[in-house]
Amino acid sequence: MTVEIEVRRARVGDEDALSLVGQATFLETFSGVLDGAAITEHCRAAHSPAQYLRWLGDERSAVWLACAVPGNAPVGYLVVATPDLAAADPVRDLELKRIYLLGRFQGGGLGKKLLRQAVEHAERVGASRLLLGVYAGNHAAIAFYTKRGFKHLADRQFAVGGTAYDDHVMSLELPADRSHESHAAADSTLDPQLTA
Ligand SMILES: CC(C)(COP(=O)(O)OP(=O)(O)OC[C@H]1O[C@@H](n2cnc3c(N)ncnc32)[C@H](O)[C@@H]1OP(=O)(O)O)[C@@H](O)C(=O)NCCC(=O)NCCS
Repeated sequence: MTVEIEVRRARVGDEDALSLVGQATFLETFSGVLDGAAITEHCRAAHSPAQYLRWLGDERSAVWLACAVPGNAPVGYLVVATPDLAAADPVRDLELKRIYLLGRFQGGGLGKKLLRQAVEHAERVGASRLLLGVYAGNHAAIAFYTKRGFKHLADRQFAVGGTAYDDHVMSLELPADRSHESHAAADSTLDPQLTA
């Protein structure tokens, strides 16, 4: 069955969809890898609708939602926000907080497309770097980021449900101030080639 994927900017009212996809993807990705109780607790706290509502209401954050067509069921999303990483400059850097796709929709170029939205957004607002934290054992995601030009910047410990895990902090240097340039804001695009 061929499913088209529509990517659009998320808005207030999408917080339940973002929370649902976030929790499902986190569980799918880390079951058998991280402690189960830690996963449950982390999803409750870090993927609550209230957390997504905070980002949706924050003018320095940007959120995109990927939905399956027909039906508009949410299948993935991306969050860019002010960084809370020790290695970050909170004024000049942005952080890629989440990039999550349900397993059925991975490996078909959708992640690359979402990441492009994040990079274009960061360039548009004049950020100097796009940073992210990724679990050191998430080799697939690290390979994905490395292919897109991110470099290892630092290490940190990241608490998942009260248990500390090793994380890599990765960084993508952005071209010097391009905020004056006009970029076409891709509010809604169709990606027709995905099969599921
Ligand atoms: C990480 C993720 C967003 C990537 O999205 P995706 O749609 O699967 O990736 P794409 O199909 O767009 O792949 C883009 C590139 O990364 C490469 N890539 C993807 N997964 C890879 C892997 N496991 N090993 C090596 N390269 C990989 C692809 O080969 C492709 O390279 P190309 O541009 O040279 O063709 C997605 O797999 C995902 O949601 N994973 C689960 C949640 C997660 O771990 N999120 C990151 C948390 S920090």
